[in-house]
Amino acid sequence: MGEGWQAVDDYIVGKLLGADDTLAATLANNSAQGLPPIDVSPTQGKMLFLLAQTAGAKRILEVGTLGGYSTIWLARALPEGGQLVTLELDPHHARVARENLERAGLSDKVDIRIGPAAESLATIKGEAPFDFVFIDADKQNNARYVAEAIRLGRPGTTIIVDNVVREGGVLDSKSHDERIIGTRALFDRIAADPRLDATAVQTVGTKKWDGFLLARVL
Ligand SMILES: C[S@@+](CC[C@H](N)C(=O)[O-])C[C@H]1O[C@@H](n2cnc3c(N)ncnc32)[C@H](O)[C@@H]1O
Repeated sequence: MGEGWQAVDDYIVGKLLGADDTLAATLANNSAQGLPPIDVSPTQGKMLFLLAQTAGAKRILEVGTLGGYSTIWLARALPEGGQLVTLELDPHHARVARENLERAGLSDKVDIRIGPAAESLATIKGEAPFDFVFIDADKQNNARYVAEAIRLGRPGTTIIVDNVVREGGVLDSKSHDERIIGTRALFDRIAADPRLDATAVQTVGTKKWDGFLLARVL
């Protein structure tokens, strides 16, 4: 089935996305510099772009930059004067992301902050609220990141969390995998939080069987 998923992703990309030299150069640079190929897929990147644009996002927060592939999609959705803050633990990943954003002509819109995201988030105070938040870093801290997204958002803020299905692993209540434990804690937290309305959608494609969670701050 995996081959079928890949072929359908290729079909969708051919029909609806087309070639993109900037994003291709980003992925090539990531690979050349030893970054793991764990960026969102092209179809997911376009979905993030469209969701951010549809939300009219002027300020975007991203947790987990890697080489900036999803950052580029999201920053492209910003209007003139829009800003994206992206948080990354690994200085090498951040350096590669800076190169990629420079090549994409988006450096002036993107502020990359290096360090553990929980610490970077705690330092954000008194800034204008974020309209759109994309969470895609260490899965064990997802519940904490969502709490911060609510604190730094406003009613109407969109929150997306990637990789919440993990090939069905989310159902395993006895798992010792910290990413699954973190994902289950995320669902528990969101289910219990009256400030959020949420769903999660399963996906297949180049990233196998996984899914994303979509929440709106009430
Ligand atoms: C799945 S990758 C992000 C992919 C990226 N969003 C994309 O689609 O192009 C996860 C990133 O989160 C970073 N990361 C892991 N733990 C982190 C933490 N505690 N704080 C900030 N970033 C972290 C990793 O170094 C990695 O670059």
